[in-house]
Amino acid sequence: MASEVRGVVALAKGEPVSLVTIVVPDPGPGEAVVTVQACGVCHTDLHYREGGINDEFPFLLGHEAAGVVEAVGPGVTSVEPGDFVVLNWRAVCGECRSCRRGRPWYCFATHNATQKMTLQDGTPLSPALGIGAFADKTLVAAGQCTKVDPAARPEAVGLLGCGVMAGLGSAMLTGEVGLGDSVAVFGCGGVGCAAIAGAVLAGASTVIAVDLDPGKLELARQFGATDVVDASSEDVVASVQALTDGNGADVCIEAVGNPKVMEQAFYARDLAGTLVQVGVPTPDMRIDLPMIEFFGRGGQLRPSWYGDCLPSRDFPMLVDLYLQGRLDLDRFVSETIGLDDVEEAFHRMERGEVLRSVVVV
Ligand SMILES: NC(=O)c1ccc[n+]([C@@H]2O[C@H](COP(=O)([O-])OP(=O)(O)OC[C@H]3O[C@@H](n4cnc5c(N)ncnc54)[C@H](O)[C@@H]3O)[C@@H](O)[C@H]2O)c1
Ligand SMILES: [Zn+2]
Ligand SMILES: [Zn+2]
Repeated sequence: MASEVRGVVALAKGEPVSLVTIVVPDPGPGEAVVTVQACGVCHTDLHYREGGINDEFPFLLGHEAAGVVEAVGPGVTSVEPGDFVVLNWRAVCGECRSCRRGRPWYCFATHNATQKMTLQDGTPLSPALGIGAFADKTLVAAGQCTKVDPAARPEAVGLLGCGVMAGLGSAMLTGEVGLGDSVAVFGCGGVGCAAIAGAVLAGASTVIAVDLDPGKLELARQFGATDVVDASSEDVVASVQALTDGNGADVCIEAVGNPKVMEQAFYARDLAGTLVQVGVPTPDMRIDLPMIEFFGRGGQLRPSWYGDCLPSRDFPMLVDLYLQGRLDLDRFVSETIGLDDVEEAFHRMERGEVLRSVVVV
């Protein structure tokens, strides 16, 4: 029997979201229905609502979630009812050209549930990032469920499902930060603070936080930044160089999604350093670099998709580090809210007041 539950839906471009009744089908082959316990509010949800991703309204929002598997469809063996899971948007296929070459974290053919959740009148919903977890229950592909230790707090570990994983991975996986490295993180929202936490975990000895907002710089320190640069008043490149013996940082991470910041991160690197781009640009953004600077500085420029994570490998490991007290995921949870407070949470996010508002269902 399909279930009728509550869900936060963006019905039309730019309009406030609505809490409505949605229909969640029983899981078919390869699918699972998950009872959502917690789901973080991410910029990407707002981008969907503003029509910035595509025009496939209505959207069922929410995608940084943890919950319990309620039912699985035929052929599902990876999870079973009762499992505590973090949802991911990288269900790897195992067969595409990237998976076959041993790089499943780039999988070019990730999948979502085949069936559609709908409004009560049968209108199909487009779930954000194939998840749609601002709801009592959601239907996903079984591969989108990663089983983790149920001792963990859902509000905290659900955030691994998107922004926090992207930030941690931008430092630990894409940036390959190592012992004794110097790292500069540009933009200290949820993603940037996670990059700082990742750099610290990976053994960086100098971790420089760059932001315009003094409150964010204070948070960055709490996540382990050793130095801060106030981008509203300082020459950012000169300040990063001054904090690294005049050389620039080994790894610079752009976590804003801004061409000016990208340029600063490019020039704030040491020779042969790495620039990681984890902030998501809009289609109109451009950067203009002299080719001689590109060549002369060497190193690597690396975009980071979802922190280059492999959920089945990385989520359980990071949850274990959290439970051991070595990765403070609780600090990302600025507030917990109800399903009826998502619209207001978007405004708090736009005003920069929170790292993450987390809906508790
Ligand atoms: N690559 C991925 O897979 C992935 C996944 C999730 C999110 N993201 C992206 O990461 C980016 C950051 O996400 P977030 O949730 O942390 O956003 P956020 O808005 O919470 O944080 C952005 C931070 O950048 C700061 N900032 C803005 N302009 C700045 C400037 N000129 N110089 C320095 N700091 C500046 C802001 O004060 C804020 O603290 C977004 O673009 C988001 O879409 C990427
Ligand atoms: Zn694949
Ligand atoms: Zn997200």
